[in-house]
Amino acid sequence: MSAAEHPCFSDARLAEIKAVIARYPAAQSALLPVLHMAQDDFGYLSMEAQQLVADVLGIRLMAVREVVTFYTMFREQACGKYLLEVCTNASCMLNGANELASHLCDSLGIKVGETTPDGMFTVTEVECAGACGGAPVVQVNNIYHERVDTAHMDEVIAQARAEGGAA
Ligand code: FES
Repeated sequence: MSAAEHPCFSDARLAEIKAVIARYPAAQSALLPVLHMAQDDFGYLSMEAQQLVADVLGIRLMAVREVVTFYTMFREQACGKYLLEVCTNASCMLNGANELASHLCDSLGIKVGETTPDGMFTVTEVECAGACGGAPVVQVNNIYHERVDTAHMDEVIAQARAEGGAA
């Protein structure tokens, strides 16, 4: 059983969560930061992890689900060691983001939203990453790569493979 199936916050993490909750008049206001912590700890937000967050904050599971399903930054499925998030909003789209996403998928033999069979790479499309001046933007494990082209992403993939999957 993985941590995502039976998630549990460590004592240190619970202390951190309590400190975040204390900043707000209502515990529910801490939902976004606590979801980020849960995703960092468990890799993705399984239904069990979402229930854990609801319990910790003393709110309904539905209130958690409303937020998790709204933001593309939250994942409900496990992803590969390298998460390649291609921004396909207006600025990036006008600068070749769709072609970039297609190139990545073709190179890796997967579709958007899928993970390679070896568990190395997941490709997703996301909303504006807030770096439109650097369009097109691809986040690789949350690190921004700006004004990227297919050659750059080929290098990213080759380097990741050369490192043997060490993120
Ligand atoms: S549209 Fe891609 S970063 Fe804003």
